[in-house]
Amino acid sequence: MNSFSRRAFLGTVALGLAGCSAENRLILPTDPMVSRTESARGGSGRARAVTLTATRSQIDLGGPVVETWTYDGALPGREIRVGAGDLVEARLVNRLPAETSIHWHGLALRNDMDGVPLVTQAAIKPGEDFTYRFVAPTPGTHWLHPHTGTQLDRGLYAPLIVEDSAEPGRYDAEWVVVLDDWLDGTGTNPDEVFAGLRRRGGHSMHGMTGLGGDVPHPHHLINGRVAAAPVTFAAKPGHRLRIRFINAAADTAYRVALGGHRMTVTHTDGFPVTPADTDALVIGMGERYDVLITLADGVFPLVALAEGKNANAQAVVRTGSGAVPDVRPAELDGKVVTYDQLKAVHSLGVRKPDLVHRVALTGGMMSYEWGINGRAGDLTPARVRSGQRVRLEFVNTTMMWHPMHLHGHTFQLNGPRKDTVIVRPGQTVACEFDADNPGQWMVHCHNAYHAEAGMMSVLGYEESR
Ligand code: C2O
Ligand code: CU
Repeated sequence: MNSFSRRAFLGTVALGLAGCSAENRLILPTDPMVSRTESARGGSGRARAVTLTATRSQIDLGGPVVETWTYDGALPGREIRVGAGDLVEARLVNRLPAETSIHWHGLALRNDMDGVPLVTQAAIKPGEDFTYRFVAPTPGTHWLHPHTGTQLDRGLYAPLIVEDSAEPGRYDAEWVVVLDDWLDGTGTNPDEVFAGLRRRGGHSMHGMTGLGGDVPHPHHLINGRVAAAPVTFAAKPGHRLRIRFINAAADTAYRVALGGHRMTVTHTDGFPVTPADTDALVIGMGERYDVLITLADGVFPLVALAEGKNANAQAVVRTGSGAVPDVRPAELDGKVVTYDQLKAVHSLGVRKPDLVHRVALTGGMMSYEWGINGRAGDLTPARVRSGQRVRLEFVNTTMMWHPMHLHGHTFQLNGPRKDTVIVRPGQTVACEFDADNPGQWMVHCHNAYHAEAGMMSVLGYEESR
């Protein structure tokens, strides 16, 4: 279904190219405008070359051993860390038995490097390779993953950290915490699970308003480990620890807290917010939060509850001796900061939108058909033009929650800036951005199964005439 619609999209593009369309020409990834926009970004003059080999691997999750697909046999994949303005030269070698690509989630990068097969590039075939070359424009906690089928629900993900040279020294230690739900190689795989959902429909595990998912994942991981075999982060009492949380799950929101501590939220999806204290955070798929924590003396569990799933992932912070306390951190039941309690440091100024796109989230569990504006997997672009202030209105008409993600831009919510936003059942969420990155950009649900079932669309820049 998706491949069909993508072909339809390419047909639209071809029409635009031939000039037969009554509408303005679309700015395709290959358009000179895309390179011109990249040149205008300038850069640090530094380059960072990496190679990622997507390959079949056997991974020990800390007890369960699974056959899966990873980058270079590591779970999570090795972190890529660059400075803002650096040129990233990332070669992807595809040793998988399937086509793939890499999407750089959170980066407002040049459109032809965005890694969406048939929208921004041709899929990379088994045995082939492709080198991504782009300037990492702004600092922040981001990540990378494929954009093909349900590959996101295998082991193909890694942190992408863009450092901010203007903020050194406000913390003593830093820890990247990647959350993931796991089913691959446990007697099934994401493709089989997706096929089953389409045959039988989903089964909502958490009623109408919670953040439960559709898919039973037997394991929940922090940095690739099940709760029974947690990773330990060692630090000193009194140290200020920066944690960069990334939710790389396919179908699970996590409620996270560090036992015995409050957290100060400093960034949402890579963008700074006025520091705000909280006991716990709820993190949807694709979302990132950075926090600062002043560490006490002892041993503390970092717990990630799988919302609506009665399961959890765990890690440990150790600044002293002793055993990990075997109690559920009380902070999990404490204050959870909400979007509207956070405020971007660099807000987009108030301006009347030039354009409003209504993005209705549609579909349901029964037939496991998800869509946008009533259409499943329709990649005919909704049009925008450079220079416009664009308002997206996500209207959730379904009984499930959806973490909605826009590629290539960071939008302004009522409060923080983000690129992925949780939209609860029945809720309408408005976000605005300035159209300043020409090309064709995905807008989709970051539930990997919802997206594959059709909850995806494209926002396409057109030429102004
Ligand atoms: Cu993590 Cu299309 O995105
Ligand atoms: Cu969804």
